[in-house]
Order: sequence, then structure tokens, then C-alpha cells
Amino acid sequence: MKACTRSAYGSADVLQVRDIELPTPADDQVLVQVRAASNDRGVWHMMTGLPLVMRPVIGLRAPKVQVLGRAFAGVVTAVGSRVTKYGPGDEVFGTTNAGSWAEYTVAPERLIAPLPSAVSFEQGASLGCSGTSALQAVRVGDVRSGQRMMVIGAGGGVGSFVVSLAAQRGASVTAVCSASKRELVTSLGAEDVVDYAEEEVDARGQRYDVIVDCAGNRPLSLLRRALKPGGALVSVGGEDHPGRLTQGFQWQMLRPLAGVFVRRRVRSVIGKEGGEDLVELGRMIAAGELTPAITRTYSLVEAPDCMRDLAGGHPAGKLVLAIS
Ligand SMILES: NC(=O)c1ccc[n+]([C@@H]2O[C@H](COP(=O)([O-])OP(=O)(O)OC[C@H]3O[C@@H](n4cnc5c(N)ncnc54)[C@H](OP(=O)(O)O)[C@@H]3O)[C@@H](O)[C@H]2O)c1
Repeated sequence: MKACTRSAYGSADVLQVRDIELPTPADDQVLVQVRAASNDRGVWHMMTGLPLVMRPVIGLRAPKVQVLGRAFAGVVTAVGSRVTKYGPGDEVFGTTNAGSWAEYTVAPERLIAPLPSAVSFEQGASLGCSGTSALQAVRVGDVRSGQRMMVIGAGGGVGSFVVSLAAQRGASVTAVCSASKRELVTSLGAEDVVDYAEEEVDARGQRYDVIVDCAGNRPLSLLRRALKPGGALVSVGGEDHPGRLTQGFQWQMLRPLAGVFVRRRVRSVIGKEGGEDLVELGRMIAAGELTPAITRTYSLVEAPDCMRDLAGGHPAGKLVLAIS
């Protein structure tokens, strides 16, 4: 099969689309013909091996798994002896630790869900990491109808889903993004847009019930000023931190502790993949309640270009590979 692989950590230049052996499913895994896969910041972390604190898990000197990618959608072609929920011909979506940027992958039952017939393979592939993290962020923030909410990094993979999900719940959403994404976030349901190159998030004096932060590069004191008393800050992530060892990952962990001092509810999302959240997102798309913001589709041989577009730091919505 064809797969996008790498044998060393580095930039998109280390990626090679080449022929490799088909994977064999373990007892608890399904073998899937991948129809679409998606890109996200987590895939970039796996490619670069950064932050270094991840290396004991993903491979100290070189990646343990050569195929890149996590989220996917496709058709089951074979199952392991302990698989009970799926059989050949079933359409599924979710994530895998075995690499999804390939014509075939293997995944355990717990990380996948049935793909509803009204959901395309590209849409299903967009949900695995970004959609589930966004749903968990909206849930952690307890976003409700009538609330005033701000999404920072609103035009990216997670942020675009957060805007849609919050608007769907009836919140009034202010999206913080670059000017190039104004149209995108408005189409997803944002009522107001803050271009962060022109003004800071607290400049208008507006106060929010919930802020979901997908950019992670503003001080807590500033975000506190933009929250109502009793409001919630939900920290998803951010890439703007120097230092190869942790790249600011510790702040994602420590922000909730700081919440005690700023007298606001401060929570971090540690995305959980698979399970009921996939089922819920699939149901919402099938019901017309959610449309993933897929802005560009690439072929498998264009996978390095897809990664270069994400690595620039300003991708719009979800970038997807259409594989077969
Ligand atoms: N906690 C978890 O479980 C979890 C799960 C998934 C992702 N994450 C993390 O969450 C972060 C976002 O992920 P993602 O997949 O959405 O990334 P992404 O698709 O790469 O999008 C990042 C977005 O941030 C925007 N941005 C860049 N600088 C900004 C700034 N100063 N202010 C506001 N927006 C800015 C970019 O576009 P514009 O600048 O053009 O607006 C882009 O749309 C990443 O750090 C990722 O690792 C965490």
C-alpha cells in the first residue's frame, strides 16, 4: 500500500509517500481501507518529535511508528478475533495510533465509531481529534443558550468546531482570528469577530461568560479581565511557546491551579479520543446541526504540502487528505 512515512523527526521535508507492507490487525483491531484522513497540530508534534517531553512515548531518537496521521474514516476490510462490533464492509471513523495517512490502517474498536450514511468520509475524518476536543471544551465550559462567549484561535481546526458547537447551543459567539478568517468564522455562526492584529481581546471592555482559548499565548491576567465574575476559561492549547523541552505544555497543565488566584473557573482540556463523543458528532452532522469547516482537500501524494500549510501556524479550519 501507499503511505506517508518518515524515519526521522523533522520538518515536512522528512516525509516520503512510498510503498510499504499492509498492516495486520491485532485481536482487538480492525483493518480499515482509509478513504480520508485529516491533519491537526498533534500530527505536526508527531512529525517533529516536539516537545521533547513526548519522546519517551513516541520514540527517543526516531519515531516508533513510521506512518504519520491519526484521524481517519474508511471501510473495514478485516477484523481481529476479539472484535465484536464491526465486520468487513462497515464504514467507520475515528483515530489510530498506527498512522492514518495511508491506504490502510489498523485501529482498536474503542477509538472508532460507525460512520452515519449521511456523513462523508472527509467529514468523518475531520472529527477524530479536533471535533472531539472541541466538544469536550464546550462541555467543560458548560456553554449554554444566551451566554456570551469568546473563542480565541477560532479559525483553526479545534476553534472552528468550537464556534459551530457553541453557536448551535445558542451562545452568542465572538471569534478571535486573523482578518483572513472573518468570513469562515461568520459562516460557522460567530456573531462578532475580533481581528487580533488590530485589537486585543479585552479592548472593547466586553465581558464573557466563557472563553475557549485555542491559541494559548495571552497572559491569564488579560483573559481574566475579559471574563465576567464566575466566568470560565477553558484552555485547549497553543503553539507560541519557545523551548523544545515542553513548548509551554506545562502552562496548559498549571493554568487551572492559577484559577484559584484569579477567582475564575479555569479548566484545561485533555482531549479524550473515541467513544460516545464520536457518535454524538456523527449524529449532529447527519442531523444538519454541524458542518465541519473543511477548507482544503489534498491527495495522499500531496501530504507533505498539507503539512507545510498547517505548519505555517495559520491553517483555516480542517485540512483533509482524500485517499481512495
Ligand atoms: N488539549 C487537547 O486535548 C488538544 C486537542 C487538540 C489540539 N490541541 C492544541 O490546541 C491548539 C490549537 O489546535 P488546532 O488544531 O486548532 O490548531 P490549528 O488548526 O493549527 O489552528 C491554530 C489557529 O490559531 C490561530 N492563531 C495563530 N496565532 C494566533 C493568535 N495570536 N491569536 C489568535 N489566534 C491565533 C491560527 O489562525 P489565524 O492566526 O489566521 O487566525 C489558526 O487558525 C494547538 O496547540 C493544539 O496542539 C489541544
